[in-house]
Amino acid sequence: MAKIISEDIDHVLFTEEQIEARCKELAQQIEKDYEERHIQPLVVGLLKGSIPFMAELIKYFKHPIEIDFISVSSYQGTESSGDVRINKDLDLSSRDKNVLIVEDIVDTGRTLKEVKQLFYNKGAHDVKVVALLDKPDRRLVDIQADFIGFTIPDEFVVGYGLDYNQCYRNLPYIGVLKNEIYNS
Ligand code: IMP
Repeated sequence: MAKIISEDIDHVLFTEEQIEARCKELAQQIEKDYEERHIQPLVVGLLKGSIPFMAELIKYFKHPIEIDFISVSSYQGTESSGDVRINKDLDLSSRDKNVLIVEDIVDTGRTLKEVKQLFYNKGAHDVKVVALLDKPDRRLVDIQADFIGFTIPDEFVVGYGLDYNQCYRNLPYIGVLKNEIYNS
């Protein structure tokens, strides 16, 4: 029998209800920002971690948006901006668009910095970022998301899109794994 993934969780940080309530608030805050600037976002999810967050977030937008997805990997050991390998590119053009990147978590900030630059290189007019989680204590590059769901301490978390070895993305909440999972 395959294991039950919730049994590997030591404790829950954010419940499904807390995440849903925060997504609703975030969507309202984001929509207000775009409305005030009289622009419409192209909402781009960074695969794969952003999937549950993006699905929840976009339900609360009342005005038209476009959505798309991109999958990138960072080149190891490079410091140059915009230098990412694109595994799956957008279907839509981002030229002259107002891109809203949806990210699961900002950790060192390297991915975000590179992806933001990538969209400017592609001719986007404006690039903003919404992240479900932010771990400011781990930041190595000077960047921050424009909209943040929750700020967390330096702790590895899983669920709601976030994985450990490609597992736990489908947990409907965010939690911390039992220590023994890392040793097994
Ligand atoms: P950064 O480039 O260091 O900011 O890394 C961001 C990426 O690292 C995220 O999109 C996640 O895929 C991964 N990551 C960072 N912290 C965690 C965590 O606590 N749990 C799961 N994945 C994480």
